[in-house]
Amino acid sequence: MGSRRSASASGLLYTGLFFLAILGHAVAQSPRERSSLNAGWRFSRFTSNPDGLSYDTLKPWILPSSNDFITRAKYQRPFGTPPGSNVQYVQGSFDDSKWDPIDLPHDWAIKGPFGAPGISGSEGKLPYDGVGWYRKTIKLDGGDVKKGKNLYLEVDGAMSYASVFLNGVLVGGWPYGYNSFRLDLTPYAKAGENTFAIRLENKPNSSRWYPGAGLYRNVWLVKVNSVHVAQYGTKVTTPSVSAGSATVDLSVTIENSSNSTKRVDLITEIYEVDASTGKATGDAKSSFDRVSVSIAGGTKKVLNSTTELSSPKLWGPVPEQSPNQYVAVTKLSAGGNGTVDSVDTKFGVRTIVYDGNKGLIINGAPVYVKGVCNHHDLGSLGAAFNVRAAERQFEMLLEMGTNALRTSHNMPAPELLDLADRMGIMVMGETFDTWKTEKVDNDYHLLWDEWHEADMRSYVRRERNHPSIVAWSIGNEMPDQSSALGGQIGTELQNIAHQEDGTRKSTAGLNNAQPGSALVNVLEIPGLNYQGEGKGLALNSTYPIFHSMYPDKMIWGTETASTVSTRGTYIFPVTSGIEAIVGPSAGENVTAQYVSSYELYHPSWAASPDKVFIQQDRYPYVAGEFVWTGWDYIGEPTPFDNSSRSSYFGIIDLAGFKKDRFWLYQARWRPEVPQAHILPHWTWPSRVGQVTPVHVFTSGDEAELFVNGNSQGRKKTKPSEYRLRWDNVTYTPGEIEVVAYKNGEKWAEDSKKTVGSATKLNVTADRTSIDSDGYDLSFVTVAVVDENDDTVPQASNTIAFSVDGPGEIISTDNGDPTDMIAFPSLTRKAFSGFALAIVRSKPGSSGSFTVSAASNGLAGGEVVVHAGY
Ligand code: GAL
Repeated sequence: MGSRRSASASGLLYTGLFFLAILGHAVAQSPRERSSLNAGWRFSRFTSNPDGLSYDTLKPWILPSSNDFITRAKYQRPFGTPPGSNVQYVQGSFDDSKWDPIDLPHDWAIKGPFGAPGISGSEGKLPYDGVGWYRKTIKLDGGDVKKGKNLYLEVDGAMSYASVFLNGVLVGGWPYGYNSFRLDLTPYAKAGENTFAIRLENKPNSSRWYPGAGLYRNVWLVKVNSVHVAQYGTKVTTPSVSAGSATVDLSVTIENSSNSTKRVDLITEIYEVDASTGKATGDAKSSFDRVSVSIAGGTKKVLNSTTELSSPKLWGPVPEQSPNQYVAVTKLSAGGNGTVDSVDTKFGVRTIVYDGNKGLIINGAPVYVKGVCNHHDLGSLGAAFNVRAAERQFEMLLEMGTNALRTSHNMPAPELLDLADRMGIMVMGETFDTWKTEKVDNDYHLLWDEWHEADMRSYVRRERNHPSIVAWSIGNEMPDQSSALGGQIGTELQNIAHQEDGTRKSTAGLNNAQPGSALVNVLEIPGLNYQGEGKGLALNSTYPIFHSMYPDKMIWGTETASTVSTRGTYIFPVTSGIEAIVGPSAGENVTAQYVSSYELYHPSWAASPDKVFIQQDRYPYVAGEFVWTGWDYIGEPTPFDNSSRSSYFGIIDLAGFKKDRFWLYQARWRPEVPQAHILPHWTWPSRVGQVTPVHVFTSGDEAELFVNGNSQGRKKTKPSEYRLRWDNVTYTPGEIEVVAYKNGEKWAEDSKKTVGSATKLNVTADRTSIDSDGYDLSFVTVAVVDENDDTVPQASNTIAFSVDGPGEIISTDNGDPTDMIAFPSLTRKAFSGFALAIVRSKPGSSGSFTVSAASNGLAGGEVVVHAGY
């Protein structure tokens, strides 16, 4: 398994340390260095504007940062001193010693407290608003800043309205908080100390969910020679693939930022990628012909070449296929100066067909899309990206049978796509939640006119080599989706995707647009949000009309279900139907603000999983679905929008504990895995003698339920039934057991018993050996159990966490959407029996540490984690 460092290079993997070039008489230097700038920043947040600056005044200096991604006239940097130079925070001499010392990735709002003034529940109640300043001083030597060298700052994501100052001068910036950007530092850098000052600003009411705040992804310093491969400058495609060979096309954009013509030679070789190290392995499997070219100073040139790869190992989604990868190693040499640049581009060899009747076909095999939508936050870690936290999400989603992710509703961290490539998960890469017309006051519509081309183009250019990307989503539920304008915008965005990539089709999440509308007419893959299953209680699916009007277009459910539930919470009576619109008399506990986990309740526009399955199976030409959502996320706590802090939509809760729905999806998506899951729990002291429905999710086709050994009947699933239910069971303490059958043979069993009172805490870790790099994480679960080690299902004991040794607890959680205790708290109540602590080694230390959990009146527990192996 590759390194889990957040600061791992991505997509384009820049090497360079291997090749030393002798320039002129003297100095050996590495052609390209890309080093992490994550460590050692100072940070301060201001709730009112501390500097008099605003995006509007800085904009003329920020817009030129988009020049590489726009086809209209380039922006000219205004002459004269840019604004902000007199602000104290940008001065090298400013004393920032009282500011918070932090390392990146950093989300300034995640530590709380909840209840931030002016921030709604839908934005997560956390203080993401205000102005944030980040400062860091680095040393450069004369060789870094001399003629013939270029220096760039790469920011993988900054929330939001970033403006970057170096040595007191505004260099540029990027307003859209989800996109990555690069700035040319060359004119502003000097030998000796250089001070970065980065200003971010988030307005309240700028998002429909918790956006996070700050420099929440990796930041890099890149040093190259003036002749180098341009940013996102390689593109690898495999236009024809057979078992015997694959044609590989390579395009390399070379930039000469010097002021004289340079002659360069380009060589690229292809290697296999070792799945466990993520690195090139073995001998070159193929190479492109050497190309020599002259490039005038201040220009770029695109070089195209083709080669054949014999017996290619294909990339395909798991579990049916394997995620094999290759890496194209490109070396650039100029005259007699040896290698002046070297860039690694990982790619996969695969074919993809979007078929109106058969759905998605990868490498010749139909692949039913079993997808989930996820927001970008990582629960109690907030928006601060962490490779291991994302990997853990993928691991659990794979366990459920997921094979696809929609990065709703924006571009993810680059490393997320590296993970998806490696783990064999397909990705729908989404860009926008709004186009020109707003959903909330301060959302992306404010940036639309000036930035949408650059945001769309740079994202596709950044990620086009990832085999995991199977479609570009150009937007979600845009208010302009049904108008003539929607058609124009859709055409423009789709064209940008074609210009930059051309190998994937584009989609969008349409909740209203109908066949015949301007956008649907042009959109390559109509994506239906909710209307495919029929919104609310309606069964009038729009899949048939879309299919009959566009029989050649693949269609899929870009957003389905939006079922709401709270883990471990069961509310009575239970609807007798396959779904109900959630409300005070349907699935809600209004006082506690919980929703029943019978997994039947949803808001008015949505559906239960069962209904979605009915409609997906009724229309087999539908390519599959993306469930809203795989994981709970911060914000949008429908149906308790104003009071709770995090969503109820997830199949897995915010802490990473599985809700009952997990097994409903697993039964459908992994039918080969023998499995039965019984609900609710069976510890109901106040329900003795009352009707307490029992539902079973199973990959079998028949099951018999027993209450204290007495059969409640054997039931078979009928067509269009996805759960077995015994709705008239009378609760008596003891044990319920289900025996599931498949084709008449015993297939799986499950049971729930009435547990005793809590006596102790069981503490376990998902991994007891981790890296000591300060990024790698262990997820420590505490279960409140009775004397038989059975989890007490409604336990809410207060747990105090502590660490002994060189480790630290970053955050705690329990998945309860109403818990307003700040995430870094070392004290956390269990929720429905469980609590979580996320731990890592202390930066700079390694060795074993013990994570302990204690609670009044209970025997405590502990687990030892070894950091640094
Ligand atoms: C959809 C929307 C999602 C989320 C979801 C909740 O309409 O696209 O972002 O808000 O509703 O059900």
